[in-house]
Amino acid sequence: MDTKIYNLEKVDNLEDVYKEAGKIINDGGVVVFPTETVYGIGADATNEEAVKKIFKVKGRPSDNPLIVHVANVEMLKSLVIELNGESEDLIHKFFPGPLTLIMKKRKESVCEYVSKGLATIGIRMPKNQVALDFIKACDKPICAPSANISGRPSITSNEYLIEEFYGKVDMILLGGDCEIGLESTVLDISLNEYKLLRPGAITKEEIEEFLGGVIDSSKKIDSLKPKSPGMKYAHYKPKAKVISIKGEKDSIIKFINESTFKNKVGFLVREDIKEKIDNNNVRVKSLGVDIQSASKTLFKAFRDFDLEGVDLIYVESFDSSGIGLAYMNRLLKACENEVIVV
Ligand code: TXA
Ligand code: MG
Repeated sequence: MDTKIYNLEKVDNLEDVYKEAGKIINDGGVVVFPTETVYGIGADATNEEAVKKIFKVKGRPSDNPLIVHVANVEMLKSLVIELNGESEDLIHKFFPGPLTLIMKKRKESVCEYVSKGLATIGIRMPKNQVALDFIKACDKPICAPSANISGRPSITSNEYLIEEFYGKVDMILLGGDCEIGLESTVLDISLNEYKLLRPGAITKEEIEEFLGGVIDSSKKIDSLKPKSPGMKYAHYKPKAKVISIKGEKDSIIKFINESTFKNKVGFLVREDIKEKIDNNNVRVKSLGVDIQSASKTLFKAFRDFDLEGVDLIYVESFDSSGIGLAYMNRLLKACENEVIVV
């Protein structure tokens, strides 16, 4: 398959690109596009054959439903049964943005293959301008999982998209770095209790301040009937083994500088730790200065270390508050809960 690639920073007439992307989608094709969280691999949510292509390209387990991206509230309303006052308020406050709401699905609004027999549908209105313009040009709800082969780290920059998808999709829109770098918060509002199924940049604290109680279901994994089917699968894993490292700044510096390692080892730590490392036997990459930069860097650093042939990556832990809950959720999945305290 021929894959059209556009680097949007170098395109003169974006309108023409979106028009072409919209035609591909309406003809049943697949387009990789940027959002503020991670890149998505999108198709027309009303076209079963197109949706099936996404599963095939990603190697995605067939029972894992897709979230649907919309460009405006009108499109959203066509997909759900009804909006009560509270869901209207949530949408008003957090859309467009890095939040996916699980709501009761309007029957036949998208094909069954998207929602995998569930009575609910996950909906997200991205705030990235390219994503919004792309969806508008398609004039269709766009189902899109993260653009990565299943189980691998999500892709958050122009790099790695072409090697992962060239020849497998119809178009790749290169839109530069994703502002957040971790996937959207998934909040189930389809029942009386609000459930956080996946933490993200819209934080549990922010949602609680707005709604009152929210139950954190993101750690519960019931392999038979998880609340969010995607929760039971391996996720976010580089080829290298990952271990999470936790400790005071000085203890981490001492551990890195004074240890000898048999394998090719990489460290992913805050900038002020990186500056103090003088052990030539290890590779060190920076997570930047805070949890925002760390979240933005994590997935790309995994892939960069893989490219360098590193066998083992130690990644610095952060507090699980704010977006730290999302960062630690992805990190603990990647390291399968293996944490060393130094
Ligand atoms: O930031 C994001 O959400 C990115 C960008 C591209 O928008 N998309 C993304 O999609 O991360 P995906 O498929 O990788 O993750 C969506 C998660 C999966 O764990 C899936 O199981 C869950 O949402 N999900 C989808 N529909 C659901 C539903 N009806 N009920 C419960 N969970 C659902
Ligand atoms: Mg994903």
